[in-house]
Amino acid sequence: MKLNPNVAEALNKQINNELHASYTYLAMSAYFEAEDLPGFASWFRGHSAEEETHAMRIFDFIAKRGGRIHLDGIAKPQTDYDSAVDVLEQALAQEQTVTAQINALFELANDEKEYSTQNMLSWFLDEQIEEEDLFSSILDKAKAASGDRWNLLLLDQELAKRGSEQEG
Ligand SMILES: [Fe+2]
Ligand SMILES: [Fe+2]
Repeated sequence: MKLNPNVAEALNKQINNELHASYTYLAMSAYFEAEDLPGFASWFRGHSAEEETHAMRIFDFIAKRGGRIHLDGIAKPQTDYDSAVDVLEQALAQEQTVTAQINALFELANDEKEYSTQNMLSWFLDEQIEEEDLFSSILDKAKAASGDRWNLLLLDQELAKRGSEQEG
């Protein structure tokens, strides 16, 4: 069955949201490069790539269901941050925004009786639980290290090691 046009439009918007998240994490990676925190930088760069895979999951779904993919401009990300804690707070807020976006999509798919879209989105519901948990745990650590360069460098080393552990 061909993808419902309202759902197709909303999924297209979500491709843009995921790419904007990817671009924002890349800007955060660039900030950490400038701050000489290479572990944070590589961790955020890895996460930027992960968000791109999320966009492509939706891209592939729309294509398979015979929908039309419309790519839009990606909004400029914030490039300046006050501290590691500031970055992590904004990253967590962004993940919470994405969770709300996925919830709204799920509700629309339900209203339109788009069962296979709901099934596809259930992966994202699980993923957002992991994402919020992950970012809040790193935010907690960044807060604990806050104001102490040595502790921040230890956390940076931890994140450098964790760079390859990311999934999804
Ligand atoms: Fe995502
Ligand atoms: Fe995410």
